[in-house]
Parts: sequence; structure tokens; C-alpha cells
Amino acid sequence: MDLYQQLLATDKKIIWHPYSALGNDLPIFPVVSAQGVRLKLADDRELIDGMSSWWCAIHGYNHPVMNQAIKDQLESMSHVMFGGLTHPPAVELAETLVDITPNNLNSVFFSDSGSVAVEVAMKMAIQYWHDRQSSDKQKFLSIRSGYHGDTFGAMSVCDPVTGMHSLFSQSLSQQVFIDAPTTPFNEECKEHDLAQLKNALQQHHDELAAFILEPVVQGAGGMHFYSADYLNHARELCDHYNVLLIFDEIATGFGRSGKLFACEHSNIQPDIMCIGKALTGGYLTLAATLTNDDIANTISNGDPGVFMHGPTFMANPLACAAANASIKLLLDSAWQEKIDQIEGWLKSALLKCDSLGNVKNVRVLGAIGVVECTRAVNMQTIQSAFVEQGVWIRPFGKLIYLMPPYIIDKSDTEILCNAIYEVLINDI
Ligand SMILES: Cc1ncc(COP(=O)(O)O)c(C=O)c1O
Repeated sequence: MDLYQQLLATDKKIIWHPYSALGNDLPIFPVVSAQGVRLKLADDRELIDGMSSWWCAIHGYNHPVMNQAIKDQLESMSHVMFGGLTHPPAVELAETLVDITPNNLNSVFFSDSGSVAVEVAMKMAIQYWHDRQSSDKQKFLSIRSGYHGDTFGAMSVCDPVTGMHSLFSQSLSQQVFIDAPTTPFNEECKEHDLAQLKNALQQHHDELAAFILEPVVQGAGGMHFYSADYLNHARELCDHYNVLLIFDEIATGFGRSGKLFACEHSNIQPDIMCIGKALTGGYLTLAATLTNDDIANTISNGDPGVFMHGPTFMANPLACAAANASIKLLLDSAWQEKIDQIEGWLKSALLKCDSLGNVKNVRVLGAIGVVECTRAVNMQTIQSAFVEQGVWIRPFGKLIYLMPPYIIDKSDTEILCNAIYEVLINDI
């Protein structure tokens, strides 16, 4: 048996993959290395990466600056507990994050994944209201088609249908849901989108701790883009009804939508913001929850006077060093021009998919290109068809999308887009 077959055989027997069954027949591809925008399989085939490893690897793979930053940190300390101790990479990163996120967000809680950053945000909101003597405010308002992670709190605010709430209905907190706004990205928010939000806040504000949503781009819940102006109204209404506003920027953060953070498409600031994914340039797992002074002070001066969360790998130094290097690399580059360029390439190369009978809609924003099909794709056949064309694209449901590393060039972007056209025109 060669390496490729050996890896597959063991994998199939004992390893769970995301959202799949043990030992199922869906194709799995062993990767042995990655360089730039290319993944190398164990049989030497190379694939152009259209996914940035679930939207994280913004600088591509095996980047010399990123590698060096991690090697340097490794020489001094790979990990140390964060209870009672601090260290230079965490302090530098926290200062940078306070600096580059909305002005009102002045403190940082580090955690180890996006889902946990969302749990932390939800716990902060509940603890804030507890300390303001409003303990009835325990629920969350969320919009349908959202995705916030797979842990129980995060799952409770994901879209109830695609988040498979029915499976866990006995165990999940029951939250309040409204439809996602339908007003397109660049337009002033229409009244019909605001009506549900107003009603929900009017009806439930006494029990709502916060309104949580992904600003402008809903990612894994449907790759849906909506009016940034909705956020302006959401801010106004949340203030009016005494409900906190949480932005989940885990997928949108660090330039993906064309702004450093998607909330910058609007004029407002959230009370709490979650970031993760591209925070470390896709090198290591790290997330953060940022809050305003009111929340930080209320929790810190309230009862029990501490925030009740503290993961073992909180502010892992290697991950913080990777994040420091990644943010510097991004901000020192002409990233905004590059995202505009990728947006242009995606728009022109995906356009031809729009005329196909099995395509409902093609949409592009920043370095995100989405082809929505009229029916769910066949994962059994489509994944192998993409690999045979030398690309790594991982659709879900009816959605085939691209979120390539920002270092991609025009020719590789066109190869990715053409691969999508080929599978669609051949109805694979
Ligand atoms: C918007 C959003 N929030 C939260 C998460 C959960 O992050 P993680 O998978 O790191 O737990 C994701 C992951 O896709 C996400 O897209």
C-alpha cells in the first residue's frame, strides 16, 4: 500500500471528519504539504486552494514571515498558563486588536476557537445584565441563516433549520429568531426588513440580553450578503430597547469583505465583537472577544466581580505570535487594493455561470464569490470532479463558493472560477 492508500485506510476506520459519519464513502484527500495557494496531495497532485482552509489562510501556506515568527516564539516559550501570568505576544496582540477594531472596544478576552469566542460573548452579555440587576435578560435575538459555531450556546443562535436544532431541541436554549434582512448590500435598508426587528425587540426586550449577528455577510449559514444600513438601524433599536449588540466577525474579519471588519461598511459600533479564523493567518487556533468599557467595568465591579471563563490554552503564546505576524503582514500590504482586484476577477470570471440553468444566483463581495445552485450539489461526485481539475473547492448545500488566500493571482482565480463553470455545465 502506498502512503496515499495507507492514510486513507486508517483515516476511514478511526477518524471523524467535520459534519460526516465515521467510515462513510464520501471522498477524502490526504494532503502532505502546502505552499502559497497550492495544496500538495500524497500522490503529488497539486490543487489550487479556493477555500483558505475555511477562510483563515489569508497569506497562503508556508509563508516565510509567518514561519519565522512562530519559530522565534517557539525558541522562547510555546505555552504558559494565562491565570496569574501574562507575556509579550498577548500584550502586543491585545493592544493591536484594541487599536484596529471599532473605537469603543477597549478590552480583549482570548479563547481558542470561534465557537468559544461566541460562548464568551453570550456569557458576557448575560453577566452584564445580571450585574445591572436585570437577570431576566437571558435570551438572544438572532437572524435566520446565521452561523455562530457548534458549541451549545453558539448553536442556539445559529439558523434553527440548517443548525439542526430539532436534533438538540431538549438541550438547547430557546432563542428569538427573525428573518435575515433581504435588502441588498449597497442599498438603504427597506422598511419590511426592519419591521420584524422592531417587533421582536418591542415584544421581547425584557428577556433579551443581546442581538447577535454576522455583519453584512452571513457565512456558513447561507453565504448571504445584506444591507450594511440594517446595522445602523439595529444599533438605534438596540439602544432604544436596552439590548446589547454583538457582531460575530469571525468569518468577515481581517479584510474578507473589502473592509478590515465588515461592520465598517456601516456607521456604527457593536458592544461586543468576536473574531477568530484569519486572526492567525490560518496558522494556529485563536479567537478573541472584545467589549466596550461599560460591559467590562460592569462585570468587573459587579457580583461576583470576575468574568466566569478561563480556557486552558487562553492566549497561547505561539498563536498570539502568529496573530501579531499575520496582522502586521496584512496591514503592511496593499490589502484593500488586492481585495478589490480579487473582487473584480471573481466578478468577471464567475459571470458566465449566471446564465446556466442550474444556477440561481451569482454574487461577489470583496474576496468572496458565491454561485448559488437551484438544488443541492452532489458531494459524492462534485468534490472528486474539482480535484481532477486541480482545484480545492468545498461546496455545501446549494452553494459553491470561493474565498481564496489574498495572495492569489488572476490566472489561479480564473482557474478556480472555470472549474466551477465546468462542473455546472456538465451537471456533475
Ligand atoms: C461567523 C462564524 N462564527 C463562528 C464560527 C465558529 O468558529 P470555529 O469553527 O472556530 O469554532 C464560524 C465558523 O465557521 C463562523 O463562520
